Amino acid sequence: MTVTLVPPPAPAPQPPAVAAPLDVLGVPGQVNLDYAATAPCARAAADAVAELLPWYASVHRGAGALSRRCTLAYERARQTVGDFLGARADDHVVFTRNTTDALNLLARALPAGTTVVTFGGEHHANLLPWPRGSVRLPVPEDPAGAVRALDAALGELRRPDARGGSGPARPGAGQGPPVLVAVTAASNVTGERWPVAELALVARRHGARIAVDAAQLAPHAPVDVAALDVDYLVLSGHKLYAPFGAGVLVGRADWLDAAPPYLAGGGATSHVGAATHDVRWATGPTRHEAGTPNLLGAVALAAVCAALADADRAALHDAEQALLTRLREGIAALPHVLELRMFGPAAPRVGIVSFVVAGRDSAEVAAELAATYGIGVRDGLFCAHPLARRLLDEAAARSGRRDLPPTALRASIGLGSTAGHVDRLLVALAALA
Ligand SMILES: Cc1ncc(COP(=O)(O)O)c(C=O)c1O
Repeated sequence: MTVTLVPPPAPAPQPPAVAAPLDVLGVPGQVNLDYAATAPCARAAADAVAELLPWYASVHRGAGALSRRCTLAYERARQTVGDFLGARADDHVVFTRNTTDALNLLARALPAGTTVVTFGGEHHANLLPWPRGSVRLPVPEDPAGAVRALDAALGELRRPDARGGSGPARPGAGQGPPVLVAVTAASNVTGERWPVAELALVARRHGARIAVDAAQLAPHAPVDVAALDVDYLVLSGHKLYAPFGAGVLVGRADWLDAAPPYLAGGGATSHVGAATHDVRWATGPTRHEAGTPNLLGAVALAAVCAALADADRAALHDAEQALLTRLREGIAALPHVLELRMFGPAAPRVGIVSFVVAGRDSAEVAAELAATYGIGVRDGLFCAHPLARRLLDEAAARSGRRDLPPTALRASIGLGSTAGHVDRLLVALAALA
């Protein structure tokens, strides 16, 4: 019998994969589980930068067509980012370098005598810029405890005989000297969410303002200044799928317009005379944006904001939560790996998990994960030393183990993370037993 070999049909031509705006760039074979430090760049940001590069020219400083286009792009970026964050019509949207820069700017803009109230669970960026006399509340046991603790602390600060609390009303204070509550929306150590809207209500009731560090929440969930009724909000572009170098401070204009400019220099003035100190500073966001601004950073950040605004964020959230559950359940099944947590296992959280491998140095584990498995995680105390140390102590007490290392590991996920990435980490951690 002869057999005629029939060549298999040629595969039907596949349409080229269409790059979606929220696809993230990366390197094949490398599993990036360090989004909380810096997220990969989204296609939308890369495309926006590539489109603008040929037009590269001065911003706010030139009459040529290129300059005018760049100025327009920069101001459009401001509008887009402000809209994405729910800025009110009279809020300022100030471009900064990152969250740290934005919080330092706000710290410099506080009216004299402002008391800042924070919790000890904050990133250093929201602990260190604040003036002497700031109040640091202990990390509460749960979100409701945070609300109660803030209520009590503000009640104490507003007592007529406390810190000049009976003094005359000042702009923004409502009653007595100004008070600013500064709180993160999601912990960079545990991913757990803080009850921002409830804390804002309490702040309002006591005539205090509230600033929200949304560096870790904004990449995972919508944040809206007006809906949350908060006064200021800050974030970093590089954690929100845009390249490094652009962040934002959104919020009330009055303190910002009354404060000395964050940087003195060109672009922040409305008049400079011949005498040394004959200068009138601009009002509006440019007051705090002296020097040539980071056009590409602002445009890239705005492109991601626009892409996220168009996306089905509930679906993105569900997908991320499914991966997070897979990761946390996988870790819980490994007896030698312990998760760090602040409010409890069931508290709402974003895609961040910190943990320790008992008996193993965290830096060594991170190096081994990179070298052997191509997995990138973070190790250390995550620029939140007071919180990380406390959670390490609690993990030791909870587990009764005496072989926990003094620093931790952190895995964080987002757009572009897959079940395969999570499983690779879990397999690697299991092999470390
Ligand atoms: C919650 C939080 N706030 C502030 C920062 C500081 O951000 P940046 O380094 O971009 O200024 C970080 C960075 O990890 C963070 O996680």
